Amino acid sequence: PTSLTDLVRGHIREIPDFPAPGVLFRDITPLLADGPAFGALVDGLAEKYRGRVDAVAGLESRGFILAAPLANALGVGMITVRKAGRLPGPVIGVDYALEYGTARMELRPETVRDGQRVLIIDDVLATGGTGAAAVKLIERSGGEVVALAMLLELAALGGRSKLEGHDVDAVLVY
Ligand code: PRP
Ligand code: HPA
Repeated sequence: PTSLTDLVRGHIREIPDFPAPGVLFRDITPLLADGPAFGALVDGLAEKYRGRVDAVAGLESRGFILAAPLANALGVGMITVRKAGRLPGPVIGVDYALEYGTARMELRPETVRDGQRVLIIDDVLATGGTGAAAVKLIERSGGEVVALAMLLELAALGGRSKLEGHDVDAVLVY
């Protein structure tokens, strides 16, 4: 049987100079478009986290694509960590630095229960700013971050260093 890593690797498209010159973009749309591959990915992740988490937090927007079927497969709820201004209040927010400028992620703390074991999931770990913001939001809401599950990790961008003290599980590391 092929590993999850090989399965994912076989369905990622690499696009030079997107969205900007010099960037090699890893595109997950072929993986999502392949029913058996997408299904095997969700099954594999569910097997790994079954019994260990009480909720799955997805990071807008590509993280939502993974979080929803995984939460369903695990029989737990999904928490949406969203870009600024999308969620009705009350919300809490965390600002973080981008290469140029800043971004902000928000969460409705009422969607997290005290002591809830939360798995954070996203498609790509790049500089780690988004993941680190999500950790702060979940913890400030009373949740306990069990791990961050990333489909792809772009190791050269050093995102792991922003997530020290937390388990970061990447299916495929570049
Ligand atoms: C991408 C990706 C991660 C984030 C990773 O999201 O889906 O959420 O960047 O980058 P970081 O580790 O440097 O923070 P993007 O902002 O492109 O949003 P999208 O999912 O809506 O396309
Ligand atoms: N692919 C997808 N999303 C990303 C990438 C990438 O290579 N880099 C930062 N976000």
